[in-house]
Amino acid sequence: MVSLKGKDILHGNQFSRKEIDAVIKVASDFEKELKKKDSLTLLKGKILATLFFEPSTRTRLSFETAMQRLGGGVISMASAESSSAAKGETVADTARTVDQYADVIVIRHPRIGSAKEAADAAQAPVINAGDGAGQHPTQALLDIYTIQKELGSLKSLKVSLVGDLKNGRTVHALVELLSLFGTRLYFVSPESLRMPEEITSQLKQKGIEVVETGEMKEAALASDLIYMTRIQKERFGDLSEYERVKGSYIIGSEFLKKLKKKITILHPLPRVDEISQEVDSYPGAAYFRQVRNGIFVRMALLAMILGKR
Ligand code: CP
Repeated sequence: MVSLKGKDILHGNQFSRKEIDAVIKVASDFEKELKKKDSLTLLKGKILATLFFEPSTRTRLSFETAMQRLGGGVISMASAESSSAAKGETVADTARTVDQYADVIVIRHPRIGSAKEAADAAQAPVINAGDGAGQHPTQALLDIYTIQKELGSLKSLKVSLVGDLKNGRTVHALVELLSLFGTRLYFVSPESLRMPEEITSQLKQKGIEVVETGEMKEAALASDLIYMTRIQKERFGDLSEYERVKGSYIIGSEFLKKLKKKITILHPLPRVDEISQEVDSYPGAAYFRQVRNGIFVRMALLAMILGKR
């Protein structure tokens, strides 16, 4: 019997296949229930706190939507500037304080390890909504849910991950989950933005086939799915290096024609220029369906963590 009751969600590597299957099942049930009614009462009386020290549109709003669709309440800190972090309060003290108000805490912060610090300080379960260039495990779960829905299976897939693999917390978490399904991985990036060596070597130790390349077309031709990511300007200390690599990979309709095959395209969003808007109407462009799936997966996580599923 799978239980996530009381657990923190901090890293992609914490999940087993059984836990992922359970999250997918609960998310799918909620998706069906929301087709029948607008909201449920499962988490009535429970409070979610969202602490965002970095910008967000999808993660914060989908967590807040998920909690409200489940009948719970939300308290929110939308920026570091509007909280006592601006006066120098630590993440641990902030978490210890919010712990007095909320039943579950979602945190995004620019520093790797910050969500773990919050989890160590709070009694309530803490969910990592992105810790700098570290991890973004709930994004990875919604990506897995989307892949299952779009492709019908998670088995024997070939996936190209493209863009800023060095700083991309979404891809760092996603490869942990994909490694449980034996996925063949193509890492496509400029040399300076390669996937961190410790992640690549751990995957290889687990027997996962990993191909590292700078060529997107070659990898895409061999893949069932392209997972596009943004080159993250905000993570560059040296902006001249950003200028050198920005625009390295762009999917437009001409590129899709060259592939001569149907391919699924995901992106955690936001995008800058790496997927042209003309691609949005291509049937395999699933990134806005991926956004919607975030609600169901986050509903599943909140319900499971709070012991209601
Ligand atoms: N995918 C994602 O994390 O989006 P936001 O930065 O808008 O939350």
